[in-house]
Amino acid sequence: MRVLLFTGKGGVGKTTAAAATAISCADSGLRTLVMSTDPAHSLADSFDVCLSTEPTDVARGLWAQQLDAQERMEESWAEVRDYLVDVFNWAGADGLEAEELSVIPGLDELFSLTDIKTHARSGEWDVLVVDCAPTAETIRLLSMPDVLSWYMERVFPLGRRVNRLVGPVLSRVSSLPVAGDNVFGATRRFYDQLDGVKDILGDPATTSVRLVVNPERMVIAEARRTYTYLSLFGYRVDAVIANRLLPTAVNDPWFKKWKDLQAEHMASITEGFDPLPVLRAELAETEIVGADRLRAFAGEVYGPRNPAEPMHTSSPMIIERVDTGYRLRLELPFTDRGDLDVGRVAGELLIRVGPYRRSVMLPDSLSRREVRSASLKNGVLTVTFGGSPRRRGA
Ligand SMILES: Nc1ncnc2c1ncn2[C@@H]1O[C@H](COP(=O)(O)OP(=O)(O)O)[C@@H](O)[C@H]1O
Ligand SMILES: [Mg+2]
Repeated sequence: MRVLLFTGKGGVGKTTAAAATAISCADSGLRTLVMSTDPAHSLADSFDVCLSTEPTDVARGLWAQQLDAQERMEESWAEVRDYLVDVFNWAGADGLEAEELSVIPGLDELFSLTDIKTHARSGEWDVLVVDCAPTAETIRLLSMPDVLSWYMERVFPLGRRVNRLVGPVLSRVSSLPVAGDNVFGATRRFYDQLDGVKDILGDPATTSVRLVVNPERMVIAEARRTYTYLSLFGYRVDAVIANRLLPTAVNDPWFKKWKDLQAEHMASITEGFDPLPVLRAELAETEIVGADRLRAFAGEVYGPRNPAEPMHTSSPMIIERVDTGYRLRLELPFTDRGDLDVGRVAGELLIRVGPYRRSVMLPDSLSRREVRSASLKNGVLTVTFGGSPRRRGA
């Protein structure tokens, strides 16, 4: 079973790439389901069919589904939300405000992850293709299993015990709403649902993330940041898809400057994501809609490769927590020769090994920690960061 996640900045071609990959997997005989977590219904537009919140048959061996995060949330979270509304009301928020406060940002999207898990475990599918929302939301979403399990492990068991003990007393002395067992039950069920999600999405043999970019400065910068964050949370990116390249057939002088600029950006994509493969697709004459156009797009992107297989197996960047802080391990396609220089400028780690230079966008959590040490061994650079972040401006 494979799970392929597509993400990137808005409008770069995520849905197109996801739909094309899915149809190509189905054509090769794999039972494939493509799902969209993006509330904009562009997956349906891409296939030019109507989709619902249940898998719909769209081509031979291919099903597509528009996940309805809101609906899923209502199903599993209603009891907890009602309780939170009571608490906020009690604390003095008025009705509407309490209702709003009770919605944890991003929580609705999180329920789409539980759908992924259900499908992955069902044994019905060979490939799950997920068309994710634009990057910022995706990152927040993918970091939530970690954040929530941290919270649940520390707060939940304790919260429950305390609640059991003080519940009756509290409700007598004050009117603080006490969570009933239904609330704990719902929280626990939700947590259990979420529990295996990280196991599936964090397992590189199962899940690959593909970053879709266009040869434009801002898009590339965002994708590089995404790449770092995904590595930080333990997700494996296996390829970059550079979409909307001006076709080689276009040689009108008016486009000359654009072409030069794109070539420059392509060089920075290749360098910035090295050693990940960079797959390419040219800008087509018209929008890419319908199965046949999607097949052609997949052919262009993957060529002879099997889109279901991991495109790259090693892990170019790993960020892990260690006792003393964080450790960043970076595969550098450099030799061990030459001296090593590691510096940091405005949230980027600048690495120089002999004549080679490389920069890595650091996530906020690392950019404010001091660099403790850096070493290069067997083509792997290890940088350790201190335990507590420096104050901003310090
Ligand atoms: N290589 C391409 N050539 C022409 N049109 C494209 C190409 N890639 C995407 N499009 C079109 O651009 C629009 C946005 O693409 P989409 O895949 O929905 O982006 P995203 O999901 O990243 O927002 C769609 O109408 C799609 O058909
Ligand atoms: Mg889309």
